[in-house]
Amino acid sequence: MAVIISGKAVSAKIRESLRQEAALLAEQGVTPGLAVILVGDNDASRRYVNNKKKGCEEIGLYSQVHELPTETTEAELLDLIARLNADANIDGILVQLPLPAHIDEKAVIKAINPDKDVDAFHEQNAGRILLGNARFLPCTPAGIMELLASEGIDPSGKEAVVIGRSNIVGKPMAMLLLQANATVTICHSKTKNLPDIVRRADIVVAAVGRPKFVTADMVKPGAVVIDVGMDRDENGRLCGDVDFEAVKDVAGYITPVPGGVGPMTITMLLKNTITAARAWIS
Ligand code: GUN
Repeated sequence: MAVIISGKAVSAKIRESLRQEAALLAEQGVTPGLAVILVGDNDASRRYVNNKKKGCEEIGLYSQVHELPTETTEAELLDLIARLNADANIDGILVQLPLPAHIDEKAVIKAINPDKDVDAFHEQNAGRILLGNARFLPCTPAGIMELLASEGIDPSGKEAVVIGRSNIVGKPMAMLLLQANATVTICHSKTKNLPDIVRRADIVVAAVGRPKFVTADMVKPGAVVIDVGMDRDENGRLCGDVDFEAVKDVAGYITPVPGGVGPMTITMLLKNTITAARAWIS
């Protein structure tokens, strides 16, 4: 039976130290501020946004949530971003993805001041991650690196397989594992013999968005299995990209859904917001 890595517990510990950092900044008259923009009425996105706001409140950060209707134009959204870029009370700006189809996601991300891009999605920040010179680490991959560290798992020299190649998780995750000296393979929808490749892995990161995609027969005994998925199973229940019940008997370490990667993503966002605020005063 695998060790279950509790993102909730690791998260609580990091948030306590962030709360202390925020208190120290407050003594210097600085309250880090995060603006979150949500366009449209995607229920899952609204839940994530509310959790981000709650996370800010918990550790003493200032936050604003801008809820805009689905029919908001790209120009209106760009105008709001320009105002937030210029607002000294706002250190971090996050536009919740996905956006409605009529809005160009790339143009929106590009409009965010890279110094306030706490998601690290701007091409300048993505480039810095590639070069190993990041000012912000992307939240989900950074949270996963913290989870590995919390269990003393050093990726150096290990075979790491990332399933999924999104700009939000798969690609930056591969970069962080590579920087930590893992041998990294990225699998995606066109990959041939995916189960054979996953079976080689000492560390598997599943970020495909397909319920219970990683089955027990794909996992090397003792492997570390990290589940980024937030899916619904055949009964409509929340589950991950990993068949947790079966894989936990094969893996050495596994993250649950919920309570694994999810809380870490928000914790890293809070950390990036504090980093952004610090950059303005130093
Ligand atoms: N949608 C899903 N994950 C994320 C994230 O980490 N940041 C933003 N902005 N949108 C998302």
